[in-house]
Amino acid sequence: MFSDRSNWRLTPNALSSLLKAKKADGVRILDLTESNPTQAGFRYNTEEVLAALAQPQSTVYEPSPRGLWKARRAIADYYGEQGETIDPDSLFLTSGTSEAYTMLFKLLANPGDEVLIPQPGYPLLTYLAELESLHYIYYPLRYHQLSGWSIDLDVLEVVITPKTKAVVLVNPNMPTGSYIKGHELAALDGICSKYNLALIVDEVFSDFGWGETPDRVKTMVNHSETLTFVLSGLSKIVGLPQVKLAWIVISGNPDLRELAQDRLEMITDLYLSVGTPVQHGADLLLRQRKAMQQQMLSRIADNSQFLKERFAQAANAGVLKVEGGWYGVVKIEDHLSDEQRVLQLLEQDNTLVHPGYFHEFDQEGFIVVSLLTPVETFLEGISRIVSRFVHS
Ligand SMILES: Cc1ncc(COP(=O)(O)O)c(C=O)c1O
Repeated sequence: MFSDRSNWRLTPNALSSLLKAKKADGVRILDLTESNPTQAGFRYNTEEVLAALAQPQSTVYEPSPRGLWKARRAIADYYGEQGETIDPDSLFLTSGTSEAYTMLFKLLANPGDEVLIPQPGYPLLTYLAELESLHYIYYPLRYHQLSGWSIDLDVLEVVITPKTKAVVLVNPNMPTGSYIKGHELAALDGICSKYNLALIVDEVFSDFGWGETPDRVKTMVNHSETLTFVLSGLSKIVGLPQVKLAWIVISGNPDLRELAQDRLEMITDLYLSVGTPVQHGADLLLRQRKAMQQQMLSRIADNSQFLKERFAQAANAGVLKVEGGWYGVVKIEDHLSDEQRVLQLLEQDNTLVHPGYFHEFDQEGFIVVSLLTPVETFLEGISRIVSRFVHS
């Protein structure tokens, strides 16, 4: 009856079963995985958000495969404020980045083809690829004590086959918080050109960078080499995942770009999935971003500072270097598996974190926490983790 690609193992894992049981018993959980900004105690300008979505023009339906010009203009202006001039015609609106990924997979690959994805990485990518009947192949990111994360370009090149169609780059990557560097991008362009690959670059966290890495690439919306599709959207930029507005910006080789735009227009015309009110509201919603990003960045700074301080004296644990994004990664060395550690923490300390394997870390010993977690919860939860697993 059902397709092979929807043949997932849907039984709850031990962590989600335990969480459900605890919640049913009314236990207060310190949830250090909270990354839904609308549930994390930020102050939204509710009136402005609602006014943006309730404009009279929204009662008229004007189907537009790329999205209404007004919304694309507002997004182009957002990039313009960062010194990036983009043509609104290179922009396609979608209802979320997941939808953008699936449209690009349809555009670039046949069933059975392959896409390269980062490891560790964003857990939805494997599902999104498989739902389009594609195979995903990991390329590794490596951690270096002094310099942080880098892409293992040698392995990336080795795993390419004649069926490989695209490289997915998440910039900064989730959950490692690492940006691609200029020299890595130059090498990646060389590889993409040699094997005729497109780049899909997820930049949803690119406004959330900090620290000093001068060579980092903040955005690839004006990339001039490889055919490049940048994804972003309001869910992170303005902390509004519920309004469902994301986009694709196409750049790179002009001839390929034209062809890609024509084909993508056909795909988006079949869906026309973005609601009219959010398209009319895009400019006003984007204007909220400074106030929202300020709050989020300040929370992230406080939480990451605390995280570093709490692990500073640890003999068997440490916080990994991050350059941006919403997540912190902690490495703990002991005899426990990831599974045992997160279960113990939830069972005994009522504290929830994500194990490294959720993000395909290829070794045991990592936990991932959301730096958007409300500060009090974060401080208490991290203190419980330190008390349980860390010695100095
Ligand atoms: C790397 C990455 N891309 C995309 C998304 C989701 O974006 P959207 O809400 O636009 O689908 C997330 C959400 O956590 C993410 O971590």
